[in-house]
Amino acid sequence: MTPVVDRFEIVTRSHDETQQLGRLIGELATDGDIYLLSGELGTGKTCLTQGIAWGLGITEYALSPTFVIMREMHGRLTLYHVDLYRLDDIAEVADLGLDDYFYGNASVAVVEWAENGLAVLPSEHLRVKISHRPGNERALVLAAQGNRYQELLSRVAMATRSKPAPPRRARPRPAE
Ligand SMILES: Nc1ncnc2c1ncn2[C@@H]1O[C@H](COP(=O)(O)OP(=O)(O)OP(=O)(O)O)[C@@H](O)[C@H]1O
Ligand SMILES: [Mg+2]
Repeated sequence: MTPVVDRFEIVTRSHDETQQLGRLIGELATDGDIYLLSGELGTGKTCLTQGIAWGLGITEYALSPTFVIMREMHGRLTLYHVDLYRLDDIAEVADLGLDDYFYGNASVAVVEWAENGLAVLPSEHLRVKISHRPGNERALVLAAQGNRYQELLSRVAMATRSKPAPPRRARPRPAE
């Protein structure tokens, strides 16, 4: 039996590593999935979303939709990429009618700045909180709300842990 995983933490050391984690999530995504992302400006929410898009077989660049609130991209499933950065009034978020993007339309929804709309966003979701660490490190905490997301997280955890550690780069020898 697969162990229940409702929380998973990982530290990435580069933009690429965050994208690769996103790609893995995108590959494991199923119809109706909802991923709620939060974290300060520049922590890597769009970077993660770009990886998710690639994992769904989407080749376009997942630009931040900040100016349009929602972008739609097509791959194995449709990706609705929502950004609530500019909306800090919950009534405004409720008025967007986002539910149309959330439920069963051969689609996956990713919401950046989800903390601006939690009260009106679906209660079952994968929550991803990203925070800055020194340099290019980012700490990502993934938390499952609901069975589907526990299953997803156990797969993410398995795939991440079974990856061989990257080879250590040999130190250059001092000149003789
Ligand atoms: N480990 C890392 N993971 C992700 N991004 C990183 C990492 N290290 C450095 N970066 C850099 O941090 C920035 C993250 O930008 P990104 O647009 O993804 O952030 P964001 O959280 O979406 O910001 P915003 O709140 O403005 O939408 C990029 O410039 C990226 O190159
Ligand atoms: Mg962004």
